[in-house]
Amino acid sequence: MKIAFISDIHSNLEAFRAVLVEIDKENVSLIVNLGDLVGYNASPRECVDLVKQRQMISILGNHDRAAIEPKFAEGFNILAYQALVWSSKSLAPKHKRFLEDLEHTKTLWDRYLLFHGAPGNPAAYLSFLFQTKRAFNYMRKKTPGVRIGFFGHTHHRAVWQRDVRGKVSRLEMSHDDLLLDPEQMYLINPGSVGQPRQRQWKASYLIFSNEPQTIQFRSVAYDLHSAQTKIRTAQLPEYLAERLAEGI
Ligand SMILES: [Fe+2]
Repeated sequence: MKIAFISDIHSNLEAFRAVLVEIDKENVSLIVNLGDLVGYNASPRECVDLVKQRQMISILGNHDRAAIEPKFAEGFNILAYQALVWSSKSLAPKHKRFLEDLEHTKTLWDRYLLFHGAPGNPAAYLSFLFQTKRAFNYMRKKTPGVRIGFFGHTHHRAVWQRDVRGKVSRLEMSHDDLLLDPEQMYLINPGSVGQPRQRQWKASYLIFSNEPQTIQFRSVAYDLHSAQTKIRTAQLPEYLAERLAEGI
């Protein structure tokens, strides 16, 4: 069985569609969207419609929450805030209702923990060792038996491992494929579909296979020019178009 994990689509319809074309070649049983479906880019309605249409499992991201809760958006940086105000105006009530119904943390089949930023808090980051140690401890206390967590929010691919002695480390990803050890715990970030920040512009996603458990990080080129043109036409900040090309 295969599951595709995607995150941080951020209203980039061109990147989202390109990823779905690739995922559809993989015969996956399920697609999981780890949050931040909207924000930054210029196709929020179309991205919400596509997630609904494809019947994915979706998690609430901090930008999703901010698009439906104006007070929450005020804590964002100015570029993100401007895009959120624009997104919020663009979304129809049906899109907002969809976002309102999303949960920030979810357990899938009692085996996988799904969340956007940190368990229980879509706005917190898992970027540093102390943050991931806290997340592993949350899993051990609150979801015993769940060994693997999937998250997004940083827009960076990452695999964190907790070994049987409790040592937590970030794995080097010299290869795109990784075999997971059934004795260990993992926190895995597929990177971002719609605004990758690893100094490469292609849309990032992940294929997880069961028995044996493996993960494969993938990326795919998309129509960057069209995504940028939509940002400019919507009169969103120019930097949001430029950063897509830089992967920052
Ligand atoms: Fe994000």
